[in-house]
Amino acid sequence: MALPDWSAIKALKPEPLTKLFQNDKGRVATLGADVAGIHFDWSKTHLTAEAISAFAALAGSMDLAAKRDALFAGEAVNVTEGRAAEHSAERGEGAPESVALASAYRNRMRAVIDAIEAEAFGPVRSILHVGIGGSALGPDLLVDALGRDADRYQVAIVSNVDGVALEEAMDRFDPHTTLLAIASKTFTTTETMLNAESALLWMREGGVEDPYGQVIALTAAPEKALEWGVDETRILPFSESVGGRYSLWSSIGFPAALALGWDAFEELLEGAAEMDRHFRLTPLEKNAPVLAAFADLYYTQARGCETRGVFAYDERLRLLPSYLQQLEMESNGKRVTAEGETVTWPTAPITWGGVGTDAQHAVFQLLHQGTHLVPVEFVGVIEPGDGLAEDHHRQLLLNMFAQGAALMAGKHADDPARAYPGDRPSSTLLLDRLDPRTLGALIAFYEQRTFVNAVLLGINPFDQFGVELGKQMARAADQGGMDFDASTDDLIRRAFG
Ligand code: F6P
Repeated sequence: MALPDWSAIKALKPEPLTKLFQNDKGRVATLGADVAGIHFDWSKTHLTAEAISAFAALAGSMDLAAKRDALFAGEAVNVTEGRAAEHSAERGEGAPESVALASAYRNRMRAVIDAIEAEAFGPVRSILHVGIGGSALGPDLLVDALGRDADRYQVAIVSNVDGVALEEAMDRFDPHTTLLAIASKTFTTTETMLNAESALLWMREGGVEDPYGQVIALTAAPEKALEWGVDETRILPFSESVGGRYSLWSSIGFPAALALGWDAFEELLEGAAEMDRHFRLTPLEKNAPVLAAFADLYYTQARGCETRGVFAYDERLRLLPSYLQQLEMESNGKRVTAEGETVTWPTAPITWGGVGTDAQHAVFQLLHQGTHLVPVEFVGVIEPGDGLAEDHHRQLLLNMFAQGAALMAGKHADDPARAYPGDRPSSTLLLDRLDPRTLGALIAFYEQRTFVNAVLLGINPFDQFGVELGKQMARAADQGGMDFDASTDDLIRRAFG
């Protein structure tokens, strides 16, 4: 397989951003795109026509178009595990048989949701969803972003094995009117299974006669859920070929579908499908996930950036950075190519971020004057999410725009402590409004961008062997009889005697 040749990218002569604007009056239009209710602006990055054609050549040599087709055709693009990565099929874009299977599973979920709404499970008021990683971050983002005004069910998404997290949720809910949704692709994850057992006990001790009757399983391993005691009719399966961190579109999205309503869930899928079609059919130089990946790779490969910052200027998107951390870092935090050769180039940068304007008063000092060059991504929404005086939203967005302008322009001062170097890049994603359709498109954009990054890096984004060793050692520590290093042994002794 071809390895990426970064020489043309590294040879690009970096012109200051302000000069790029002076030289090209059409820069905002050329480096912009409008897709599915989202305006993308990469004009404040160092991408140029020359850089884009160097990346397009790289994309050609790394077979991006063929790999994109293979992804949507349901081929085994996850080469290390020999399976497909069919999250797009969940939203109707993929191999016909996979789309049909996803749709059958979705109908099954809908039937269960209809039954819950019809009170076939008794008077359900709250959903206690236990899951971790991809089985929590996606649904949590959806419910937090879109569920503010939904007055249907209370939802708690509990991921941490720390009992404090589960206790907090249990304190809020009545066990008699709570559904326990156990979300786990494998149905073996220690944290989730322990939380599920404790939640069942809470129901039993709270006087629920048949706690299992209030359990729904969301999983790609229905046989394990059955073994655990979940009734077959309350198991909502999804395909093995849907990866954990790509699974919010499947039955893992159950709490969102229930809390937001079925129509909202369908709209979310439609928005994502629109982004998929854009990704599949649009030429590279206007293709949003592709251009975003080009900018990502320019900064990691040519400018040595080790992190990227994502700042949501919208309280409703406060969970976006942590969602993206798993998506990007678990997918592309790899050190070998898809064929197992050690890479000699940096792979995924560290994704970090926060919410504006809070982050401005905490971490932006480093962005403006620190020694690290951090490509920043701003995400804002034109339509306000609040009903207060207009000035709240106006100040919010003006701050976002001002930060991007300030990072780029910098400011001279005779006193070096007061000078801003400028020429610091940012991209901006401006959503018309935050509704299910636009959020679906936004998340699909990030998924496809992660995929393009992986293809150009020559790595497999769909496995995550890096998380296994720590899990195995935690199990070994639990079972005892294993000697760790002196420090770890000492810590275990101090904690447990
Ligand atoms: O530990 C990593 C991981 O495998 C993630 O990829 C996944 O989203 C998470 O654990 C949860 O796994 P499961 O859904 O099988 O419980």
